[in-house]
Amino acid sequence: MKVLMVCLGNICRSPLAEGILKEKFVKNNISGIVDSAGTAAYHAGENPDPRSIDIAKRHGLDISRQIARQFTVEDFDKFDKIFVMDEANYENVIKLARNKDDIQKVELFLNQAFPKQNLPVPDPYYGGNDGFENVYQLLNKACDAFIEKIQ
Ligand code: 4NP
Repeated sequence: MKVLMVCLGNICRSPLAEGILKEKFVKNNISGIVDSAGTAAYHAGENPDPRSIDIAKRHGLDISRQIARQFTVEDFDKFDKIFVMDEANYENVIKLARNKDDIQKVELFLNQAFPKQNLPVPDPYYGGNDGFENVYQLLNKACDAFIEKIQ
């Protein structure tokens, strides 16, 4: 199972999602690839936001060596599932889709835990630190639901 987590900057939400799911793949003996990308390029080449690194660390994960990159059309070929964090990410990824198969790979990630509700993972970039704990909890829940589904 090859999974790509996508947000806007690839420095706050999707790196955390990548770190959480990667660890759960290992723990549950699921083979595959977990990666992340941003729809925008402005943080490409950077490590995750220090607040994301910190919240990951508090939950026993090291995401400090991840490097941000922009989503590209080739990602539709490389991944089975493309999980987006909010509606804006969804629109931006879908704009690059070439066909129905591409479109079908793209899903709002929180629909794993809260089916059909189309809830966003709130962008924590401009908020305080508690935004990041909230993001962690939501992502962790969605990762658990996804793992359960594919096992
Ligand atoms: P992310 O958060 O999409 O979760 O990585 C953001 C990071 C950077 C910006 C916005 C959101 N920004 O505007 O620079």
